[in-house]
Amino acid sequence: MPSSKIEIHHLIDMKRRGEKISMLTAYDYPSARILDEAGIECLLVGDSAANVVLGYPDTLPVDMDEMIMLTRAVSRGAKRAFVIGDMPFMSYNISVSDAIRNAGRFMKEGRANAIKLEGGGAVADTVRFLVKAGIPVVGHLGLTPQTAGMIGGLKVQGRTAEQAALILEDAKRLEDAGAFMLVLEAVPKRVAALISKRVSIPVIGIGAGCDCDGQVLVLHDMLGISAGFKPKFVKRYAELEQQMLDAARRYHEEVQARTFPAEEHSFAIDDKQYSQIEAALGKTPSKSNGGNGRSKPRARVSVATN
Ligand code: KIV
Repeated sequence: MPSSKIEIHHLIDMKRRGEKISMLTAYDYPSARILDEAGIECLLVGDSAANVVLGYPDTLPVDMDEMIMLTRAVSRGAKRAFVIGDMPFMSYNISVSDAIRNAGRFMKEGRANAIKLEGGGAVADTVRFLVKAGIPVVGHLGLTPQTAGMIGGLKVQGRTAEQAALILEDAKRLEDAGAFMLVLEAVPKRVAALISKRVSIPVIGIGAGCDCDGQVLVLHDMLGISAGFKPKFVKRYAELEQQMLDAARRYHEEVQARTFPAEEHSFAIDDKQYSQIEAALGKTPSKSNGGNGRSKPRARVSVATN
């Protein structure tokens, strides 16, 4: 893999060589920077942002402006990783021109390297037009949360031969339409393995077993900051919620106890200068009658050492 920016052909070559691709969701600059440094090949600015960072009950409410802002932040942090912007519900379903305009915003404003959209045959024509317009497309099959209401809810898909055959057919249609990668969500392991073998583009699984060409997880799920949400397919690699809670509680206690900030977190003033201020101001007012409590906004002090 290159030490410079990852491109589509690198990902396709990884599948050809049998190397697994790792993808995680990211929604902000610091996470993108860390995941990039960890060597994650693809960062997906998923519409799962709706739930995990914006607090909506499902993915439907998140809009283009919100997704573009998050994508732009992730792109700034991703020096090497390939960034995929996830098209929100109804940003590609109304008309092809809408889809091109919105996908174009992910590329131009969000600086994404590709977009992802959900659906099979029904979106194949849209995929074809997006690719013709020069926009790389990742498909998303199996459990498609944006249309969960139409597929029986947030449930494993492809458990019957008929359903599995339909997913395979959709995968082939998306490949034919020019998608260069597929996400396959909540599909039985053997069905996902079969689909991964039957298409030449990389298939990235989530809840689809280990035989896909790569894996994706929602960052907040794998870090343990998703309010106890833990479906079967998620492995927790950290328990950050507890760590954040402990840190915030300790901070709260220390502020109350006046043990933070300590001397080492405070800035000093020369005695002579301070006496001059006191002399000029007269007696320092007590805390209860001083000022209006507001101070002028100022720049963040980044490298203050004394
Ligand atoms: O939005 C998202 O995070 C996704 C992943 C679950 C693949 O689509």
